[in-house]
Amino acid sequence: MTEDNTTAPVDWDAYWRGTKDGSSFSSGGVNHSLLIEFWQGVFQEAPATSPLKIVDVASGNGAVVEIAVDILGAEKSDVTCVDYSTSALQSLLEKFPNVLICEADAKNIPLEKHSFDLATSQYGVEYAGTTAFYEMAGLVKPGGKLAIAAHHANGGIFEECSDAAEAVKRMQAASFITLAGNLLEARFAVANGGNPANYQSAKTRMAPAVLEMKKIMLEYGEHVAGNTIKRLYDDVANINRRITNYEQTEIISWLDQMDNEMESYIGRMESMCSAALTPEQFSEICYQLTELGFSISQREPLLPQDSDLPLAWILIASKQ
Ligand SMILES: C[S@@+](CC[C@H](N)C(=O)[O-])C[C@H]1O[C@@H](n2cnc3c(N)ncnc32)[C@H](O)[C@@H]1O
Repeated sequence: MTEDNTTAPVDWDAYWRGTKDGSSFSSGGVNHSLLIEFWQGVFQEAPATSPLKIVDVASGNGAVVEIAVDILGAEKSDVTCVDYSTSALQSLLEKFPNVLICEADAKNIPLEKHSFDLATSQYGVEYAGTTAFYEMAGLVKPGGKLAIAAHHANGGIFEECSDAAEAVKRMQAASFITLAGNLLEARFAVANGGNPANYQSAKTRMAPAVLEMKKIMLEYGEHVAGNTIKRLYDDVANINRRITNYEQTEIISWLDQMDNEMESYIGRMESMCSAALTPEQFSEICYQLTELGFSISQREPLLPQDSDLPLAWILIASKQ
């Protein structure tokens, strides 16, 4: 993780506009039962204030809020969500109309210091760099708590994201989408009485890219990059087989859109990898929090029973 988020900015807003689903990891991501249990424990053992003033940092569309409301009840929780994505916050408000939203960078949160009973973040605050942890800690009032589940460098999600970025970059380097566009255009031409030789030569030009796609799936597994590689590979083959069922303009604009989305997908995967905390970075953050007057009750990797790849770093600390 960088000191002050010096990695290239990621278009999270485009992401939330599109899928509105933060859980696209086969290793479970935000839906993993261990993480859900972690948050259930946090809210069950939260300070006994009613309503409990909670701030969730880099909230996305509300995975943590959902558990808070489930455990505490909407009337016993007073939740503010911070995120810099307008679309994430809009989607969150659709689900939780009573939540207060704060559209801001987690490095500089315009909320009253020392005014919250509980500050939470799941796979979020670390995207804004180390200083954001202390910014978030500054929101907690004396007697309040801080609870964080952050990306773990070399954890399961880290591996998945790094494989996904590499796989998609290899697909781009092989120009699979461009060559598929050329192939399908030639195929549409043949279906309309054009020269089959042009189709054959497009097929020959595309052969190395097809081979590369097969190699990628073999090396990283068919489900790499949230199935994107396999889906594209299968869809292009199916369209090629049943070309008369499709509209040329729709297919070409679908391929253009896929091509454009790949850049931001790689950016998001790489930003997850660079946000992830090494053991040294996690220790330093814990140390600085104790310097800020926090006493830490839990700080460890969250390990699924069936894997030695941590799901997250978890941290619970109380403000003295
Ligand atoms: C992986 S998502 C996690 C969202 C949510 N906490 C969850 O568990 O589903 C990361 C979130 O961090 C937000 N984010 C990234 N960098 C940020 C920053 N510097 N300031 C505020 N939000 C940020 C993104 O918009 C995105 O919603």
